[in-house]
Amino acid sequence: MQEKINTLLEEIEGLKADSLQAIEELRIKYISKKGLVSALFDDFRSLPVEEKKIFGQKLNQLKATALDKINSLRDELSNKDSAENDIDWSRSPYPSRLGSRHPLTLVQEEICRIFSRLGFSIAEGPEIEDDWHVFSSLNFAEDHPARDMQDTFFVKNVMGSLLRTHTSSVQSHVMSEQQPPLRIICPGRVYRNEAISYRAHCFFHQLEGLYIDENVSFADLKQTLLYFAQEMFGKDTKIRLRPSYFPFTEPSAEMDISCNICSGDGCNFCKHTGWVEILGCGMVDPNVLDACGIDSKKYTGYAWGMGIERITNLKYRVKDLRYFSENDQKFLDQFKPAH
Ligand code: DAH
Repeated sequence: MQEKINTLLEEIEGLKADSLQAIEELRIKYISKKGLVSALFDDFRSLPVEEKKIFGQKLNQLKATALDKINSLRDELSNKDSAENDIDWSRSPYPSRLGSRHPLTLVQEEICRIFSRLGFSIAEGPEIEDDWHVFSSLNFAEDHPARDMQDTFFVKNVMGSLLRTHTSSVQSHVMSEQQPPLRIICPGRVYRNEAISYRAHCFFHQLEGLYIDENVSFADLKQTLLYFAQEMFGKDTKIRLRPSYFPFTEPSAEMDISCNICSGDGCNFCKHTGWVEILGCGMVDPNVLDACGIDSKKYTGYAWGMGIERITNLKYRVKDLRYFSENDQKFLDQFKPAH
């Protein structure tokens, strides 16, 4: 009897089950009326009285142990089930990803911050424009090639409507609505009918600047642009102004900065000249002031316009303009802040 009790005890203590069905089978095998523990009770009945005294208690203990074991197997299983139920199966299996600012936005914001420190405020204008704001008010001659179908997108079926080819059109809006002193920057998207390649796109971004007051001089323009170049590209940056032509400024210039990639030593980016062009600028042509209702005898002003893609290329060395509009996650992820 003792031996049978010991064997069963050992067996029962080592029981395992991973389903309710398996637990039920164990219950039937050990403690149901026809189970192994009950069978021992049958044997017990035929024992002599002295042995009954010894084994009665032991058998009861065996039965209690078997019951405890079956109950604890049930508990284990239901705990496991509820742990599994705590899992949110609707959650994405991938870690959640935060977006990042587009490199053009980052650079545009940085440019705006620099000029706002000099007192410039932001002005915006429409992307769908008319000829007057984009060309006529800005002193473009009737037959200027920029008006040509080759460059300008015209809006079909809407007479005189076109997509702005430069942000200089915002100048005309502001000048015809407000009187000097005016100190504005105008960031925005512009459109030109260009074949798309690594160096040209049919839309891109510009930032226009305009300052009009009494006694504004070319020296003021130069100082403002030098400040910008050094804030944007570092204190050692040099600038160089070359005479140029734009219909809306007289005199006009193009501005180069010392190449920030090779520090002026010469590289592929600066075509081994040590200089890269970043913007056009000049003193606002009196014809433009007059066309917009500003007294050109009293006021003078300067203006400049630069491409945001170009500044971004210099800052981040993006080699292909098309990356800016393709939304390639691998490209955009590079501009995520480190933390
Ligand atoms: N609007 C010119 C362009 O799109 C850029 C420009 C040049 C703007 C000289 C200006 C300026 O205000 O003074 O190429």
